[in-house]
Amino acid sequence: MASLDRATEAEGYVPTAAPGFYRPSTTLPITAHKRALIYAITTYPVTILIGETGSGKTTQLPQFLHSLGGFTKDGKIVACTQPRRVAATSVAVRVAEEMGVKVGDEVGYSIRFEDMTGPTTKIKYMTDGMLLREALVDPLLSRYSVVMVDEAHERSLATDVLLGVLKKVRRRRKDLRLVISSATLQAEEFLRFFTDGEGESEVATIVGIEGRCYPVDCLYLEEPTEDYVEKSVQTVFDIHLKEGEGDILVFLTGREEIERTVRTIAERSSELHPRAPQLLPLPLFAGLSNDAQLAVFDAAPENYRKVIVSTNIAEASVTIDGIAFVVDSGFVKLRAYNPHTGIETLTAVPISKASATQRAGRAGRTRPGKCFRLYTEKVHNIVLPDASIPEVQRSNLAPTILQLKALGIDNVASFGFVTPPPAELMVRALELLYSLGALDDYARLTKPLGVRMAELPVDPMLSRILLASVEMGCFAQILSIAAMTTVQNVFIAHNSDSNSKNVSESKKRLFAVEEGDHLTLLNVYTAFTTRGQKAAKWCHEHYLNFKALTRAVSVRGQLYRYLLRFYPDLASRNCDAATEVEIRKCLVTGYFAHAARMRPDGTFRIAGQEDGEVLWAHPTSVMFNRKVDWVVFHEVVETGKKTFIRDITSVEKKWLLEGAPEYYRVREGRGV
Ligand code: CDP
Ligand code: MG
Repeated sequence: MASLDRATEAEGYVPTAAPGFYRPSTTLPITAHKRALIYAITTYPVTILIGETGSGKTTQLPQFLHSLGGFTKDGKIVACTQPRRVAATSVAVRVAEEMGVKVGDEVGYSIRFEDMTGPTTKIKYMTDGMLLREALVDPLLSRYSVVMVDEAHERSLATDVLLGVLKKVRRRRKDLRLVISSATLQAEEFLRFFTDGEGESEVATIVGIEGRCYPVDCLYLEEPTEDYVEKSVQTVFDIHLKEGEGDILVFLTGREEIERTVRTIAERSSELHPRAPQLLPLPLFAGLSNDAQLAVFDAAPENYRKVIVSTNIAEASVTIDGIAFVVDSGFVKLRAYNPHTGIETLTAVPISKASATQRAGRAGRTRPGKCFRLYTEKVHNIVLPDASIPEVQRSNLAPTILQLKALGIDNVASFGFVTPPPAELMVRALELLYSLGALDDYARLTKPLGVRMAELPVDPMLSRILLASVEMGCFAQILSIAAMTTVQNVFIAHNSDSNSKNVSESKKRLFAVEEGDHLTLLNVYTAFTTRGQKAAKWCHEHYLNFKALTRAVSVRGQLYRYLLRFYPDLASRNCDAATEVEIRKCLVTGYFAHAARMRPDGTFRIAGQEDGEVLWAHPTSVMFNRKVDWVVFHEVVETGKKTFIRDITSVEKKWLLEGAPEYYRVREGRGV
């Protein structure tokens, strides 16, 4: 694995046994506060930690605690949770390197479908969602001596639920220590949350560690821009030609936009004078391959200026050294769930003032910097909200409620959320879980269905489908389909030019099944697993993502083992007779809530919402530009001005009515 470090920084580097170099931790701001921190954590059950990004909280604090001995003896573990998988894995790699150990030994990570920990693991980086899953089998989290909830101020849905659960666990485990890492603004709120009803002075304390940061000069647009993508490219070139040295970090909203921008910058930089300094544009987003992700951390070659074009990942979770200029589009993609339509979209919305400040700060980590905001000062002061709305107030809560019920928290309305979700979202989630059969008339978890659905590490609709597939004799196929929907970017273009995109599209048609994307994914999976040794070459030739497919194989194996626990005779059951119709009917058992109908003009509407939002088949779907009547789909995505549905399968109206009579009964007036 390549080192994440830059060998060019001025500060003293010391060689280690591990490959690469790193900045000795003694120079990080947190080191000066080591004793104060250890005192706080050993004295108070809850420590709220405030510090600038880059001060060493995530990488150093777990190591401090480990070095004390007591927190990691007798098999106890120090956990550090992250809202993002990329952060959990990349930080674990970094810390293992610092300690000169292999990832999976003393330092490990655990994210959904990927457990890189072992019997000797003492420091464990994990997603907040994974720790919640562990609470299902170990409600008091007894393996952990310390839980550090990192980036708590981001208020991801899983973080919020975890905080509520930890608050309960702490009351029953006097030895448990909690560290909540937060931005300054929210520290008091967390303090109040953990101390309510108890003497503040005994329960929790706030420790601030000053960060290393230099002044950042913020510049605004005089006139608003119509096209922030184009404007960001222009700004990059302006900086490159007019400003001094230092790399550039551009914040955009999503993968498509980022890839387009990287291409444009590369194209236009070919017009630069060949002997003048060049630009090296690099993308950074969550679905990126590991290698491409690590490239972002490497120093640019001589005579090149790095331009990292990133999603919100680079705002706080991932730290890249050497950035002197930030270009801030002012937008971020956020999940938003509409309880009336029952669809969840990922939409670009204006960032908060807190985000804007954080983004600007990325330019001042190692020297004074500049931030170019692609919006006017007026917009910043008047339009941008102070902080963004926590996810718990704008998400589909069905997975959360299912989990809380499985944790034995029956009265979800009185669960101690940091910020309670709106009643509408709760009601809608309960309704969906009821129609999926996970809850009974009294909103209690059904046995065994609801209990098993909560245990499966996929969303409730998909877990319902998996469980139905066993009864319906098509679990072999559904397992493959489920695994394929959890991995991203199965189909790839070798280069980002449009010609190779066309080749990739025509290759995809080799696997295409008229009935839709799910059966197409099944075809790809089946073809892949029969290639054996030649699979990598075969993938390359067919424009398929070898890593994604390999991952799908592993995910399928894990899902199979879950089903095997529920149905010990699974291995003796045979699915060879399952027909395509049966597989599609099985998909309806969960996806009925994502049903839509095509209109004569080729667009879709959600079942029962004739005047509802206009939906389009995603260009990557085999249903793109095709005639079809009723369909179910996996998800909704919004890009620019259109709302797309993705992973689509054609179904019959009567299956919807048969498969989910309850749903169409309870959602009276919105029936098919
Ligand atoms: O958590 P916090 O933002 O306070 O800092 P950190 O993630 O512990 O990072 C401390 C230092 O380690 C920073 O200077 C990073 O540049 C460096 N680091 C790195 O080079 N590579 C990583 N994968 C993580 C951190
Ligand atoms: Mg951190």
